[in-house]
Amino acid sequence: MDNLAIRGGRRLEGRLKVSGAKNAALPILAATLLPEGTTTLRNLPHLHDVTTMIDLLGCLGVQLTIDEKLAVEIDATTIANRRAPYDLVKTMRASILVLGPLLARFGEAQVSFPGGCAIGSRPVDLHLKGLQAMGATITIEDGYIHATTDGRLRGADIAMETVTVGGTENLLMAAALADGTTVIRNAAREPEVVDLAQCLNAMGAKISGAGQSVVTIEGVERLHGCEYSVMPDRIEAGTYLVAVAATGGKIRLDEALPEHLEVVLDKLREAGADITVGKNWIELDMGGRCPKAVSITTAPYPGFPTDMQAQFTALNTIAEGVGRVTETVFENRLIQTHELNRMGAAIQIEGNTAIVTGQKSLKGAPVMASDLRASASLVIAGLVASGETIVDRIYHIDRGYECIEEKLQSLGADIRRQPGKVVAGDIT
Ligand code: EPZ
Repeated sequence: MDNLAIRGGRRLEGRLKVSGAKNAALPILAATLLPEGTTTLRNLPHLHDVTTMIDLLGCLGVQLTIDEKLAVEIDATTIANRRAPYDLVKTMRASILVLGPLLARFGEAQVSFPGGCAIGSRPVDLHLKGLQAMGATITIEDGYIHATTDGRLRGADIAMETVTVGGTENLLMAAALADGTTVIRNAAREPEVVDLAQCLNAMGAKISGAGQSVVTIEGVERLHGCEYSVMPDRIEAGTYLVAVAATGGKIRLDEALPEHLEVVLDKLREAGADITVGKNWIELDMGGRCPKAVSITTAPYPGFPTDMQAQFTALNTIAEGVGRVTETVFENRLIQTHELNRMGAAIQIEGNTAIVTGQKSLKGAPVMASDLRASASLVIAGLVASGETIVDRIYHIDRGYECIEEKLQSLGADIRRQPGKVVAGDIT
C-alpha cells in the first residue's frame, strides 16, 4: 500500500496545467457505447478510474486503441457483451453509467449493483425510476440490475426528486436514442453534465437546455462517432488553489475555466486571496498571508461544490477565526475531520456541520485516507503541518488526481511517494 510522505511548512509557488475532468471523462467514455461507429476522445486524465472505465468498455467488447497521449479511439460498432461485472463495478461506482447507453442501444443491460462508499450509501433509485418511466423493465437479481426494454425506450417527462449528477447523465444518454421527446426536470446543472451533452450532440443527439434545470432530449434512431476533447477538471483546479492558499503562496493555473469555479473563487477571495482570471487561466496570490476562516454550505451546481468541501475544511484548520462547514449533499462526508483533529486541528461536529477553529499550526502525523477528496484534505494539512505527515491508502488519491506528488513537487512541496507494507485486509 503506497503512501505519501510530506514535510510541511513550505510556501508553494509555481504554474500548473490542469488535467481533463475525471467526472466528465467517465460519463463521456460510457457514452461511446451509443454510436454505431468510432469515437475519439482527447484530454482524458491519467487516472485509475479512467483506466477502470476503459477496462469495462473493453470487457463489453468495444475495439479500443490508445495513443501515447492517452487519446482513446473507441469503436462500439459491435458489442459482444451487455453485462458490467461485479469485479469491475465494485472498484468504481461510476460503472453504473453504462446502464443507460447499453439499454438504449441494445434493449438490455445487466450492471452489478454499485455499493455505497465511505461518503454515503450512494443509491441509484432515481436512475432506475427514470429508465422505468421510459419503458424499461428493471429487476434486481443476485446483486445485478437487469434492465430490458421491448423495442426502443420511449420519451418521457421525468421530474427528478433529488438533483443527481449520475442520474441526469444516465437518463440523458438513454433519452438520446429513445423514440420521442424526453424532458428531465430538476436536472443536475454541473459543467460535467453540459460536457456530456455537448459530446452527445456531436454524435448527432438533439439535446437542449443542458446546464439548466429543465433539459429536453429529442430522441434519434442512431448516433454516429465523433471526436471530442474533455473539459478541464474544475475540482483538481480548486484543490491546487486551496493547497497553495493554505501555504500562503502563489500559483498560475493554465487550462482552468474560471466560470466553472465562481463560488469557489469568491470563497478564496473571502479567505484573503488575490485572484485574477483570464479566459482559460486562474492566478491566486496569498502574499504570504494566513487565510481567514470561511463558512460554506455545499449544494448542487451552481452552489458550493461538495467535492471542494474537504479541501476548505483543511484550509480552515489553520485560518484566522472560526469557519462553519455544512455538508448537505452526502450523509457522511465530514469523515476527514477525525484525521485532521489527530494533526492538532480543532474541529467539532454538530449534525452535518463541522465547526473549525483555526489553529496557529498543525503537527504532522501518520493519517489514513478514506475517500478521494478527504485524501486531498489530508495532503493539504500535511503541506502546512510542522514535521512529517504520512498519508496512507493513497489509492484513493490516485483515482482523482493525476501525478499529485509531481505536481506538488513542481510547486516546491517536500512530498514523496513511498511503497508501503501490505497490511492484511488492505485492498491491494
Ligand atoms: C457525482 O456523483 C460525482 N461523481 C461525485 O464526485 C460528486 O460528489 C457528486 O456527483 C455530486 O456532485 C462522478 O461524477 C463520477 P449524485 P453521483 O447522484 O452522480 C442522492 C468525486 O469526489 N441520490 O449527484 O454519484 C445521493 O445519495 C465524486 O469526484 C439518490 O438519492 O452523485 C446524494 O445524496 C464523489 N438517488 C445526492 O443524490 C439516486 O438515484 C447526489 O448524488 C442518485 C443520487
